[in-house]
Amino acid sequence: MWRELFSYSINPEVFLDVGNLWSLVHTDQDRGLEVAALRQESTARWSDLATRLSAGQRRKAARFVLEQSAPVAATLGATLHSLSAPGVFELPEQLSAMALLADDVGAGAANCARADAFRAIARRHGIDAAAAPPHELAQDRRINDSLFRLPGAILALSRRSDAFGAVLIGADLAQRELGCLPSWSFAAEVLGAPEWERLDMAIPQTADSLPAGETPLGLARALADALADTPDQQAQCATGIALYLALIDEWDRTLFDLTLAHLDPRLSMALLLQAKAREASVYHENFKLEGESLRDWLSKARKDPLPLLEVLGRSRIIRKGDPDKSRFATQMLDYGGPMFRVFNDGEIAIIRDWITDLGQDDSWPHPDSRGAVLARLAATFVAPRSEIGQGDATLGVTPTGIRQAYFTLQGRALAPATRAFAAEYCEFWLAKARKCIDATCRSLPVDWQPGLLREWLLDTHDHHAARFEQSAETEIPSREAVIEQSVQLAPLTLIDGAWLQGFTDIALASSRVGAPLFKTYWDELGNGAWDMNHPKVYRGVLSAMGKELPPTGSLEFAHHPDLRDDSFQLPVYWLAIGKFPSSYRAEILGLNLAMELSGVGGTYRNAHRFLQHYNLPTIFVDLHNTIDNVSDGHAAWAADAIDLFISAIEDPDEVRKTWSRVRAGFESLDPVARICGNLDFFTTRSKAPGKPVSAADALHHVPPRMNA
Ligand SMILES: [Fe+2]
Ligand SMILES: [Fe+2]
Repeated sequence: MWRELFSYSINPEVFLDVGNLWSLVHTDQDRGLEVAALRQESTARWSDLATRLSAGQRRKAARFVLEQSAPVAATLGATLHSLSAPGVFELPEQLSAMALLADDVGAGAANCARADAFRAIARRHGIDAAAAPPHELAQDRRINDSLFRLPGAILALSRRSDAFGAVLIGADLAQRELGCLPSWSFAAEVLGAPEWERLDMAIPQTADSLPAGETPLGLARALADALADTPDQQAQCATGIALYLALIDEWDRTLFDLTLAHLDPRLSMALLLQAKAREASVYHENFKLEGESLRDWLSKARKDPLPLLEVLGRSRIIRKGDPDKSRFATQMLDYGGPMFRVFNDGEIAIIRDWITDLGQDDSWPHPDSRGAVLARLAATFVAPRSEIGQGDATLGVTPTGIRQAYFTLQGRALAPATRAFAAEYCEFWLAKARKCIDATCRSLPVDWQPGLLREWLLDTHDHHAARFEQSAETEIPSREAVIEQSVQLAPLTLIDGAWLQGFTDIALASSRVGAPLFKTYWDELGNGAWDMNHPKVYRGVLSAMGKELPPTGSLEFAHHPDLRDDSFQLPVYWLAIGKFPSSYRAEILGLNLAMELSGVGGTYRNAHRFLQHYNLPTIFVDLHNTIDNVSDGHAAWAADAIDLFISAIEDPDEVRKTWSRVRAGFESLDPVARICGNLDFFTTRSKAPGKPVSAADALHHVPPRMNA
């Protein structure tokens, strides 16, 4: 079932091995489809249909299009939502991809993603099912399974952006080139509503997510062009374009045929018979229709339901034109009847409409016969060729040292063995953090109450400021010490934002709790502007100190002799927990508050004093002292995200448990060694036999590096 692929891939933490994934999603994509021709053909198809229908039928068709296209709408933006990774934080092309994503998800405003625009349209027209969240859509049997194929494939590929990054960039470009789907243009014309334009991926939907003068289409083209110097990636990008076009073409044709069926009572009934035939054929051996057992008719109906529809229509259990006098629609469905509760309300409506229609002239609205439409649909209704599964549990790397761990976790996707390591590292670190709760005066309040956190935030900020005032006279460390400390902070600062990595997922980034986290992450990476990118700004500071370090995602960086082993301990925790936006959401929320609050008011101002004293750039600390501010900056957003998260929980016990997880996350920024003991994971844990990590492994963990 395609809906299962969709449902499975909604989870931002899932892993599918490359071979399994490709065998699931690839299709007959080498058909030389072109965007312009595809758009023209589809537009003609829907426009032609509009001319053949009455106003009432057009409305019915448009509403059906909305209902059935909800899974595709729910994945608008998913092509690029998993590209960002610490190892490629500073690449200008990655920032362009983030700018596109920020525009798609509403740039950190809750419920403002393109998918939300679709939901607003659906709600406005009373189609609440189409406004449901993705996991509910997957359960909605009214939505045809084959229409989950395209969105399921895009979501699944997005979970392996390390292997399919260029394919996703190609698919994204094709989607934006296509613009508003012709089926949506058809529905927009019939139903009207101001939000439709936001479903056109070629047009920006937020005021200033994109660089001035840029359009999503222009940026998507530039992203694809950046792959041009690498033939392999260029080929993958072309595969992504072809794959998207093949899947959207199939999706559009299927939706069109299903719409025809939805408008036609006879075809709707034929599809219903076909859908029920397998289950029903078990029961009807003794019931004869025109000399043949119903069981045999049903067996044949699995391939072609039209002959059964004909004989059923002529049978004694049907009174043409009058469902109330037809046994098939009355006694047989009632309590005690042979088909009691076999059909749901929607299906009973199909049966009744069909019987009513049998009493009228045939009004089939399309030049293609019903048989032709049914045959086309039958050809589309094919299940995936292989099972969904993450593959071999031994896949992935189990690091044996802290530097290897830092290198291995630079990407996003976690193969099973690496995932097990990352989870173990998080547990190790959080166990240390839990020991520190209430052991110092900096811990979060013991209980959570509405409004308390903001108050506590201001108190803590005052405290930071008071400490800064007291320390104003303290001795300034030596220039060498200032530089050495800055260098040792590089493994952490060059992955600024890594703990929030998982919140780029389209559903999380536009959720109430996730939106402020996405907005923070988007700020850390410079809002699409390379010169505002925090890791890049920090490199500038290091450079002014005469320190040049290799790219963060490289083996050379992880093994750089100037960096101490213990300088990687906290960064590895950030890298690990950032991969678990669902499993460790409460802890990430606490960590995020600790991080955003840690420097404001005090430490950053002290650092400013030291740096200024030696005429070194203060921009990094100045920038953070303002952007992380407690009134409407990152620290305030962090507190808001926690309050939103906890206030949605009803059970007081659950509130207490969640709050204590948030508190542990808060401590986890800086567990106090004298309280919690040694923070070296690799000496305190027995070493699992790990595989050596080579530079080639980086390709398996980090999304593609594009050529500047
Ligand atoms: Fe930052
Ligand atoms: Fe920040």
